[in-house]
Amino acid sequence: MEGRGAYNRHAGLQAAGGALALNALKQAAASIVLEAMDQPIVIAEYGASQGRNSQRPMRVAITELRARVGPDRPVLVYHEDLPINDFGSLFEVLESAPDRYVRDDPQVYPCAIGRSFYESVLPPAYVHLGWSAYAAMWLSSVPTQVADHIYVPCMKGAASAAFREQGKKDWQKFLSLRATELRPGGRLVVVLPGADDDGRTGFEPLMNDANDVLTQMAGEGALTEDERAHMVLATYARPVRELLTAFETDGRFCALSVEHCERLPLPDAVWDDFLRDGDGGRMVSRYAAFYRSTFVPSLFLALAQPDDAQRKGKLSDRFEHLLKVRLEARMEPIRSQVQVLVFARDPYSKVCS
Ligand SMILES: C[S@@+](CC[C@H](N)C(=O)[O-])C[C@H]1O[C@@H](n2cnc3c(N)ncnc32)[C@H](O)[C@@H]1O
Repeated sequence: MEGRGAYNRHAGLQAAGGALALNALKQAAASIVLEAMDQPIVIAEYGASQGRNSQRPMRVAITELRARVGPDRPVLVYHEDLPINDFGSLFEVLESAPDRYVRDDPQVYPCAIGRSFYESVLPPAYVHLGWSAYAAMWLSSVPTQVADHIYVPCMKGAASAAFREQGKKDWQKFLSLRATELRPGGRLVVVLPGADDDGRTGFEPLMNDANDVLTQMAGEGALTEDERAHMVLATYARPVRELLTAFETDGRFCALSVEHCERLPLPDAVWDDFLRDGDGGRMVSRYAAFYRSTFVPSLFLALAQPDDAQRKGKLSDRFEHLLKVRLEARMEPIRSQVQVLVFARDPYSKVCS
């Protein structure tokens, strides 16, 4: 994600998707098994990014828990993300955002972990409640360097099969690690971009524009052919049947069972605002800023010198400008969906190794 709080400023789409899962989160917080002791309650957020979109879900979960245990029991909230994440912005939000969940609750203790969620990030049987929004579609690695498009649902050749296979392995890894970290009777709520049975997500028109912009930038000489050829998003949006495959045999996977699984259309607030105010310039600026802050840093990992901040900044500006030009010519909403899943950790059986 783009640093210096840029993701926080432009991730309204992800915030809206997460909001559609708040009832499921509330229900999960109400259902977790809590021991009678006064040990801290542990919440873990996997793939937190810069914290703006963490505040509402954490507040919902803590409010529900407070109704169960009262004001005195400590609550630990671990915000986990990759070591390269902009944790500085996350701490700023926790310190000063008006809606910060730590406000008015002295017994809530936020912490941060800089480690991939494809590794163990917390001790076994430690987490009461897990939350992960718009994160677990990011893969542990790019499974192939040769792809004909930056975005899996738009790929035509064999590359998409490699992503599907990686997506399957990573999902099972993610779930088995979280199953180990969850306490018996704990819950894990996962929010993902939804995909149809054929893998389409609704982001395809925007991704086609972005793909064309990158090709245009290579044509202008701003990107080398080699850089352009290696630009790909290491994401895979799994259709429901792929999310549930591991549970097919007996309804369980690593002592997890599926408590809730729902796919919903995601309203597009940017488009709705445009329909109200008719401000097309503002609309395309918002879409382009969303795209830049969410996806461009990953695409630009393929730059010959990805640490060259000055060149990266200039290229990002050029990309954003060219994307706006294309969006102005197209003018249509993002018709995406959100996938909400809740997993319950079996109170009795052992997790798989
Ligand atoms: C689109 S952001 C979502 C942030 C926030 N949860 C939200 O709902 O807006 C995805 C986050 O997942 C993180 N992420 C991707 N792969 C990861 C991994 N292997 N381990 C931990 N975090 C990862 C990214 O760094 C990024 O901060």
